[in-house]
Amino acid sequence: MSIALLYERSENDENGIKLTAQQLGIELAFIPFRKIALSIGKDGFSAKTKGKDYTPAFSDAKVVLNRAQSKNRRLQASYIMEVLGKKAINSSQIEFVCYSKLRTLLNLHKAGIPIPKTVFVPCDATDVMKNGREIHNEKDIADLFEAEIPLSEGIVIKADAGTHGKMIMLSKDRAELEANIKETKPGIINPIGVVAQELIEKWFYDLRIIVHKEAGKEPQCYHTAMARAGFKDFRTNTFLGNLVFHSKLPQSVQDLAVKCGKTLGEGTDAWIFALDAMVDVADKKNADEEFLKQQLDSAAQAWTGVQKVKADETRLTAFEEWNKKLEAAFKTYKATTAYENVNRIIEESVEQNQRALVFHESNSCPEFWENTRLATGLNVAEPLLKSAQSLVDS
Ligand SMILES: Nc1ncnc2c1ncn2[C@@H]1O[C@H](COP(=O)(O)OP(=O)(O)O)[C@@H](O)[C@H]1O
Ligand SMILES: [Mg+2]
Repeated sequence: MSIALLYERSENDENGIKLTAQQLGIELAFIPFRKIALSIGKDGFSAKTKGKDYTPAFSDAKVVLNRAQSKNRRLQASYIMEVLGKKAINSSQIEFVCYSKLRTLLNLHKAGIPIPKTVFVPCDATDVMKNGREIHNEKDIADLFEAEIPLSEGIVIKADAGTHGKMIMLSKDRAELEANIKETKPGIINPIGVVAQELIEKWFYDLRIIVHKEAGKEPQCYHTAMARAGFKDFRTNTFLGNLVFHSKLPQSVQDLAVKCGKTLGEGTDAWIFALDAMVDVADKKNADEEFLKQQLDSAAQAWTGVQKVKADETRLTAFEEWNKKLEAAFKTYKATTAYENVNRIIEESVEQNQRALVFHESNSCPEFWENTRLATGLNVAEPLLKSAQSLVDS
C-alpha cells in the first residue's frame, strides 16, 4: 500500500476521499492522528493506538494525504512523515506558510500577486509583567495601523492563524479599532502580534479557487470557483449564515491563481490549495441591490433543504446514502431561479472587476465535500488523490 489518509476524525471530507478512492480504484491505508502513540528510541519507530499497531501502515506509506484539521497537528504530521522519508500533501513547508495569513501574504506579495494591504505589528496588545501588572499597547498599535491604513475606510483586524472567520473584526472608528486590538490575545490562533488589513469593498461575495499540481505536470486552476455570498456578515463564511454559489473564472484570474500556487508550492512536486480571493467591487455594482437581496432571501429559503440534510446524523453511519440525499437537495437548490440570478450577477461582477481581485488566504486542507464540490462540480478528492498517485509514481 502506498497512499495513506491521515486524519483526526473521519468526517464527510475524509469519507468522501475514501469513496472517491474506491471509485478511482486507488487503495488507501488509514492513519489515525489523535489517540496514537508515536514512539522513537533505540528500538526504532512505532505507532500504536490502544487497540492496534499502525507501525506497518506507517512503513508502507509512501505518500500521506494529510487531513488533520488543527493547523498545528497538520504541520506536525507533515513534518513527521517527511522525516520518516515520506511525502505529504501538503508538505510541511507549505503547511508552515499557509498556517499564517501573514506568511502567505508575504509570499504572494513577493511574487507580484495582488493582495489587500496588510500591516503586522509584532507587539502584543497586552503585556503581562512578572508581578501580574498589565501594560496596554492598544493605543500605540492603533496609531501604527492608522498611519498605514485610512481608518475611515475600515480596518480589519485578524488572528494570523485563525479559521472560519474567528477573530476577524471590522473597525470603522478609533474606539472600535482599539477595542478590537485589545481582543487579540497571543494564543494558538494568534501566536504573536497583531495583523491588520485594509477593508476590501467586496460587495456581497468572495471566492474560493482551487489550484493543484501533480508531479511531472503543469499546475492547474479549476475553471469555476465557489462563491460565498450574502449580506449577513462582512465575513462571508457560510456558517455565519451566508450562502454558496459558483462562478466561472476569467482566464486572467485562473492565471493569477496558478501563479499563487506556484509561489506557495515552490520546491514541491505536488500540492493543492484552496485560495480565498476578494473582488474590490466598490461602487461598480452590476445589479440593483434590492433585487439582489430579494434573490438572496429566496435562495436562503431553498438552502434550508440542503441544511436539513447536512444536519442529518446518518451521514456518519450511512455515508453513501446520505450523500445521495445531499446531492439531490443541492440540485434542487441550484435549480431555483434565485440561484441562477445570483450566480449570473456574481459571474458578471467577477468578469467586470477581474483586475480588482486580491488574494488574501490559502487553505492547505480545505473542506470540500459539502459545498465546493456541489457548487462547482469539482470533487477536490480527485485532484488530491491524483496528486498523491503522481508522487507514488514519480
Ligand atoms: N480585508 C478584508 N476586507 C474585507 N473582508 C474581509 C477582509 N478580510 C477578511 N474578510 C472577510 O472575512 C472572511 C474570513 O477572512 P479570512 O482572512 O479568509 O479568514 P478565515 O477564513 O481563516 O477565517 C473572508 O472570507 C472575507 O469575507
Ligand atoms: Mg478564509
